Amino acid sequence: MKRVPHPIPYQGSKRNIARTILSFFPHQFDTLVEPFAGSAAISLAAASYGKSHRFHINDLNKPLMNLWNEIITNPHDISDGYETLWNEQKGREKEFYFIVRDKFNNTGRPDHFLYLLARCVKASIRYNARGEFNQSPDNRRKGRHPDKMRNDIFVVSYLLRDRTITTHEDYKNILKKVSKTDLVYMDPPYQGVCAGRDPRYYTGVDFDDFLSQIEKLVRRHISFILSYDGRKGEKIYGREIPADTGIRRIEVNAGRSTQSTLLGMNEITYESIYLSEDLVKRLNLPPDEILSKVIPYRGTKQMTLPLNRD
Ligand SMILES: C[S@@+](CC[C@H](N)C(=O)[O-])C[C@H]1O[C@@H](n2cnc3c(N)ncnc32)[C@H](O)[C@@H]1O
Repeated sequence: MKRVPHPIPYQGSKRNIARTILSFFPHQFDTLVEPFAGSAAISLAAASYGKSHRFHINDLNKPLMNLWNEIITNPHDISDGYETLWNEQKGREKEFYFIVRDKFNNTGRPDHFLYLLARCVKASIRYNARGEFNQSPDNRRKGRHPDKMRNDIFVVSYLLRDRTITTHEDYKNILKKVSKTDLVYMDPPYQGVCAGRDPRYYTGVDFDDFLSQIEKLVRRHISFILSYDGRKGEKIYGREIPADTGIRRIEVNAGRSTQSTLLGMNEITYESIYLSEDLVKRLNLPPDEILSKVIPYRGTKQMTLPLNRD
């Protein structure tokens, strides 16, 4: 199994189910479009496995997309910037984090943002009502070693340079521009909260609004993969996409959650993946009971359990 580089630590990253998601990629398409990119785990996995050659990564979070630009086009400077901050923190890690956080809130500098993401609680972005980054440091972690960070940054730059468009727009603008020859992967923010009030994101995504976007994509014959709801044990999170939307739902075993493992519980997280009608046709997917035996998950041990919704 390849080691896929992952320079931006990010809560909610889809890196642990990336290989499963790649298994639903058609053989040919023009551009892989990620309207809710975050740490772009799927684009990075697709680039590493040679499953896509052109990329469009978008996220409404402008400082995040500035960081992506630096990683892709300016790997030396961003690696040096991170290393300098990492060294300067020695012996005063907690106080230094707050100094960098203030500076980031004044300047939006990408090296500051990378340092904050590497050091903050659960690599989770939080903003206050004024739009300032206000997440606390995880004082047990010093942040990833600069040599490892540099390594991942250079690999990512090599993989994505000259074949990636980066934007920081609302997802609807991006969806308007996608074409039938593209493949869209969507992982919108967790929807257990009201739109616009989730401190993790600049904005939430309204469920009904999102549903109407999905319906438009289906009508326009766009091939897309969507990560949406899921469950941990019996507890369901997020709202399911209604079956009459015309997209196929597959439930994927995403392994034991770190939290459950820490608490000594055995709960497995299952994530839903939805495939658009056109993609299902292009893939010639077998019935669900056969599918369950072929979807790869982290090597060989565990198996996914697709559910038939009909
Ligand atoms: C669940 S995260 C995506 C995680 C990603 N799949 C990964 O592997 O890291 C959702 C992302 O959507 C972004 N976002 C929130 N509202 C958005 C909007 N209206 N348009 C575009 N992006 C948005 C957030 O900033 C966040 O990075």
